[in-house]
Amino acid sequence: KIYPVILSGGAGTRLWPLSRAALPKQLLPLVNDKTMLQDTALRLNGRPELMQPLIICGNEHRFLVAEQLREIKIKPLGILLEPEGRNTAPAVAAAAHFLKARDPEAVMLVLPADHVITDADAFYAAIGRAAKLVEHGSLATFGIVPTGPETGYGYIKSGEPLPTGDECFKVERFVEKPDRATAEGFVAAGNYYWNSGMFLFRADAYLKELEQFQPAIAAATLEAVNKGYSDLDFCRLDEAAFAASPSDSIDYAVMEHTRHAVVVPASIGWSDVGSWSALWEVQERNDDGNACRGDVYLDGVKNSLVRAESRCVAVIGLEDIVVVETNDAVLVTHKDQVQRVKNVVEHLKCQD
Ligand code: GDD
Ligand code: MG
Repeated sequence: KIYPVILSGGAGTRLWPLSRAALPKQLLPLVNDKTMLQDTALRLNGRPELMQPLIICGNEHRFLVAEQLREIKIKPLGILLEPEGRNTAPAVAAAAHFLKARDPEAVMLVLPADHVITDADAFYAAIGRAAKLVEHGSLATFGIVPTGPETGYGYIKSGEPLPTGDECFKVERFVEKPDRATAEGFVAAGNYYWNSGMFLFRADAYLKELEQFQPAIAAATLEAVNKGYSDLDFCRLDEAAFAASPSDSIDYAVMEHTRHAVVVPASIGWSDVGSWSALWEVQERNDDGNACRGDVYLDGVKNSLVRAESRCVAVIGLEDIVVVETNDAVLVTHKDQVQRVKNVVEHLKCQD
């Protein structure tokens, strides 16, 4: 049985000022009228091979998450609540302990709550190919053909083809967030994929690797699950035990070290909507290439993203820009510079 586990704990700082700590990216309707979490859950709904999803998120978002699922009539297997964010390795570990206790053979499909996938059928097919590989302890990644030397992704070097005969490979090397020059080398080499951040593996296989490479995370999260308590759909992880876990991502903690990783190439129309320019790419645009939301007046504007939340926004004679207006903050930037938005959030944090 495959249990989807939806990671819904990120901050999405590069989509400031819309994405905030209290209302991060995955809980916003960014691409269409559903929130990204809702789109993620709906994509899984009704698939015979998939169980109800387990959500893992920060305690402070519990009511929003529960309400958003209720709105689309999806009953989760549970909502695991982190007392504080410790990054993805502990989040996935807590989910793995939780599932393994219910079903010792549980296979988990780890999915970020905030990705766009335009080809759902190809996505289901990729899950099917991965499912054939994980019975004996392999950790499956889903590889995206890179379109440039992005430094915000993990890179997967594919090795020998696997005997299943459907174009899946051993992972020869996994490098999380390389520097620019290294990423350029990987893209030029041709046999590298981007890590999509989605994974399929048996819960016990992940925990076994974690025990080897980051035993403190495995132990702390086991205690946090065992000492946690449930009320309604919520399962609260024990605060003291979870706080004792080191903070690390699944990519650094496990994927860079394991010898059991495999890669399933996946042409699924994937985007992690990691920045305003990435959102512009996946959003619907008019004939001038503009993606607009809200009360917006444009004259001589091309290939831009303009979003008005609470006031009228007028833009005249500009191209390739991003303007995002909210009731307490406004962002104006060139589409090439959107990676620097996260610095604004850092700056504002320091002022607090
Ligand atoms: N529950 C929970 N708790 N979820 C979390 C936490 C946490 O502490 N931290 C992050 N997440 C969620 C985020 O909301 C996101 O959906 C997902 O986990 C991945 O975290 P990111 O912080 O967005 O990771 P990243 O973008 O830097 O890198 C990962 O994704 C890339 C693709 O988008 C890595 O897996 C890269 O290798 C990969 O290329
Ligand atoms: Mg991300």
